[in-house]
This record gives sequence, structure tokens and C-alpha cells, in this order.
Amino acid sequence: MSQSTSSRSTWSSRWAFILVTIGSAVGLGNIWKFSYLAGASEGSVGVFVVVYLACVVLIGLPLLMAEILIGRRGRSNPVAAMLNTARESGNSSWWALLGWVGIFGALMILSFYSVVSGWMVDYFWQSLVKGVQVGTPEEAKTAFETMMADPLRLSFWHTIFMILTAGVIARGVVGGIETANKIMLPLLFLILVLLTLWGAWVGDMPAALRFMFSLKTEAIKAGVVIDGMGHAFFSLSLGMGAIMAYGSYLDRETNIGHTCVWIAAAGAFIGLLCGAAIFSLTFGYGLEPAAGPGLILQTLPLAFTHMPGGRVFATLFFLLVIFAAWTSSISLLEPFVSWLTERFGIRRAWVAWGTALPVWLLGVAVCLSFNDWSEFRIFDRNLFDMLDHLATRFMMPLSGLAVAIYVGWKLGRIIVTDEIRLKQRAFSLWFNVLRFVVPVGITLVFLYELVLRDGFK
Ligand code: PHE
Repeated sequence: MSQSTSSRSTWSSRWAFILVTIGSAVGLGNIWKFSYLAGASEGSVGVFVVVYLACVVLIGLPLLMAEILIGRRGRSNPVAAMLNTARESGNSSWWALLGWVGIFGALMILSFYSVVSGWMVDYFWQSLVKGVQVGTPEEAKTAFETMMADPLRLSFWHTIFMILTAGVIARGVVGGIETANKIMLPLLFLILVLLTLWGAWVGDMPAALRFMFSLKTEAIKAGVVIDGMGHAFFSLSLGMGAIMAYGSYLDRETNIGHTCVWIAAAGAFIGLLCGAAIFSLTFGYGLEPAAGPGLILQTLPLAFTHMPGGRVFATLFFLLVIFAAWTSSISLLEPFVSWLTERFGIRRAWVAWGTALPVWLLGVAVCLSFNDWSEFRIFDRNLFDMLDHLATRFMMPLSGLAVAIYVGWKLGRIIVTDEIRLKQRAFSLWFNVLRFVVPVGITLVFLYELVLRDGFK
């Protein structure tokens, strides 16, 4: 296999890299998934949040560095970067499998990610043109269920979102991905600060914080611990080739350690801020953080209907979600596209649209899994749930485990120290956490859920 590493793009600066990686990290995960998982783990929300935060620091941050290291060292797409570094360090080329899992896993996530993003575009459009008016929780529920029952409507907005995603990727690394992030991320942050302040003003922030951080639990629900860990992976975009692909465009001088601290901190901070804003509004308007993926679409529109300036804030909120989702979805498409372009020398634009097509089709199947095909179940889950569970609970942590073993035990100190140029003590701390804490932590969480909690129910 010849793997070209020449003529690759490079981010225009270290800050550009930090920006695009935060863009990838902050997404539906922080806004839609966090609130719905937290809502679903009623009674053990604090456990979920604490596991999530502990995993960000102890597992996420070290792995973020390891993935960027592989990408930058291999100077290529995830498959070739694994191959190049395995060869350089005298390891088996079977390690390239890890790259394959990443690039396909990312496409799998993208298929349902785009559908959920489509819901947000739908609600954005409604808020913009007529305002979402729902008087009671029942009305909000019916509005959401009407959307979910309509495969054409779901597919339409999913299509729009896939076009947005592929459109950016087609324009290239600097011209597309970097530019999109430079425009959207500052706006996203601005809207978020505004919404949080507003949420605190009209909502009930203390109740939100109590809800998120209360460690008093009735019983630790099955699945909460693995969900907390899975969410750390999901919200930091780990284990799916995205970070590796972005890392491969990073210049040699940037200090990976310092950069990653920024990324992980910003990711977790923005995540918590979103959670605080959402729950503050939820409780402020006496609503229940009902379980289920429709959470923010069933509770927030109610709050927006009743609050002063609600329509403007609804439109801004959904715009924020779209920006967050868009800067993440491009990082889900990039790994595979970079592999195809580099491997076969095909033009990027063709590859971007060509890859988007089958992903879009799978997404249409996801749209149908909520209505016409809802009878079709795998392990008692519909296609949407199945894809999400497979990726978040299994593929991401397991490929994270493999990355930790690869960089911690296989790659060799010379390569690792050459890439991670930290002071001696900081380096040993990181390296030991990667070698011991990460693999043991991931294994323990799996054992806990599998053995003690009856297999991930
Ligand atoms: N981190 C993104 C989010 O929170 C999702 C994502 C996962 C992106 C994996 C890339 C890779 O929404």
C-alpha cells in the first residue's frame, strides 16, 4: 500500500487547530445527548455527571493526546496513520484495523447524527417563520411526535443537513473545515453565553445545578456508569478517527499536551454550561426533565412559548444547536473522505458527495425506524437506538482501549517522547495514566456493567 504523505494541508495556526477540535467536540453530544442522558438517569444524575467528568480528565484527556500523536506522526488519514506509525515502530500492520473501525464508525454515527440535527433544523425553521407555540406539555409532546411520525419531513431536514456537511468537506481542510469553524464557533459561544444568562434570569439555575450535581442517589441505575464513560468519549469525539484525522493536519511545533488541556477543558465547560441553561429553563417553567431523545424538543419549546422574548431565543437556541452539530458532523465525514482521497487520489469534492450518499441513505432508514419501520428491532432496539448504543457504548470505548495500549505499550518511548514534548514530570504522569489508568478504567467500567448490572440494560 503506498500511502502518500506529501502535499497535505496544515491548519493555519495552533489556535485554528484548537478551534476546529473544540468545534468537533462540542455538538449534539453536549446539548441533546447530555440533557437526555442526564434526564434519563433520574435518581442517579449526579453519578452520571461525576463519572462523565472523571472520565474526561482521567481517560478522555490522555486519549485525546494519544490520538493526536498518532495522526501527526502518521501524517495521513486514520488508516494510513496507523499503518505508517506501526511500520515505523516495527509493529504489525494489523493495527491499521483500528483506523478502519474509526473511519467506518464515524460514518455510522454521522447517519443518525444528521437525522437528529435535522430535527433541530426543523425546529429552527419553525421558530424563524412562525414561532413554535405550544401551550401545554401535551401539546409539546404531540408536536414532537407529529414530526417523528412523518418520514418525509424527517428525511427532508436530514437531507438538508447532509448537504451542509458534505458542502464544507468538499471545500477542503483550510478553506472548508477551518473557515466554517472560524465563523461558527465564536457565534456559538456568544449565543450560549447569552442563553445561559437568560436561562439563569428567567429560569431556576439553583435547581438546575442541584439536579446535575446532587450525589444523593436512590439507587445507581444500570447503564449509568457506562453511559457516563461513553458520553465522555462521544463528547470529546474520541475513538472514531476524527481527532486522528484533525491531528494529521497539525504542524510539528505545536505542543500537544498544552493544546489538549484547552480542548478538554473547553469541551467539558461548554457541555456543563449547556446543561445548566437547559435545566434551568426546564425547572424554571415547572417542567419535568422527561426521559428520551426528544427531551429538549419537548421541554424547551414550552419554556420558549411562555418566556418574554421567547421566539427570538428559540430561534437563537436552535441556531446554536445547528452550529454545534455542523462543526461536529464535518469531523465525522472527514476521516473517511481523507482516506479515499489520499488512497486513490480522487478529487476531494467528488469523494465528499460520494461518501455522503450512502450515509444519507442509512440516515433515511433511521428516519423510518421512528415510524414505518419501528416494528423492526434488533436486540429490542430500533435502528436509531441500535446505532447509537453500538457506537457510544461499545465501539468508542473499545477503540479507546486499543489506542491506549498502542501508544502506551507498543509505539515505543522514542516516538512518543518525540511527539509529546512535555516536561519530565508532566510527561510521566500522562504516560502512566495512559498505560495503566485508561485501560484499567475502561475494563472496570465494562466489567461493572456486564457482571454487576446485568449486561448494559
Ligand atoms: N463530539 C461530538 C458531539 O458531542 C460528536 C462526535 C463524536 C464527533 C465522534 C466526532 C466524532 O456532538
